[in-house]
Amino acid sequence: MSLIYPKASLDAYPKHLSPGYKSTIKRSPSKPLMIVPHTLSELTGPVYGHDAIQENDNDLTKQHKGEPLGERIVVHGHVLDEDKRPVPNALVELWQANACGRYVHIVDQHPAPLDPNFTGAGRTVTDAKGYYKFITVKPGAYPWGNHHNAWRPNHIHFSVFGHSFLSRLVTQMYFPGDYLFPYDPIFNSVPDEKARARMISTFDLENTVPDWALAFRFDIVLRGRKQPRSTTTNINKTISRA
Ligand SMILES: [Fe+2]
Repeated sequence: MSLIYPKASLDAYPKHLSPGYKSTIKRSPSKPLMIVPHTLSELTGPVYGHDAIQENDNDLTKQHKGEPLGERIVVHGHVLDEDKRPVPNALVELWQANACGRYVHIVDQHPAPLDPNFTGAGRTVTDAKGYYKFITVKPGAYPWGNHHNAWRPNHIHFSVFGHSFLSRLVTQMYFPGDYLFPYDPIFNSVPDEKARARMISTFDLENTVPDWALAFRFDIVLRGRKQPRSTTTNINKTISRA
């Protein structure tokens, strides 16, 4: 079977070896990658029913007895493929640090408090028109030891499963105007400036809930399927979010 998903979509991704991001030195492949023809196992995606999603899975402020500390936010957006078709029923998962910049993870031992009312993981599926929504708190910045005084900008990790395994996207959502952008090798491992800009959410005043929460919009573009030549003009313009 030929390549159904366009390879051009991958141009926006970070290079496997991004030396400023130290872990990639050992993790990145040292030999050229082999292009594997698409087969049914790549083209038939994971199938998720709504049943697997529990109530409050998309509300990270209601997963414990009390409310977590921090700045409550709504994070929402539209999942499209690169041919601008909405992707309904896509599994959207996120994970993040708490408002103090601490993860609930054995490896994260930096001296910031854990919040007993916040785990930092959520999931949902897009609706029939490809929209999703989460309620959470704004994550704090945290130190990560990559280089002297390295701090990650505020961010939320995302995983999105589209219609096939080849359209799965793992990325990070950032917040507008973060002063740590110029110093972050992970953010800057995405080579194209426009692709980096697509990882930054938009402050969304219209969907802010008065006296309750700020809102940020984060639209996500997954890979699209190759179209007949006459309709492929926008494939290189609308590439997947890295
Ligand atoms: Fe993180």
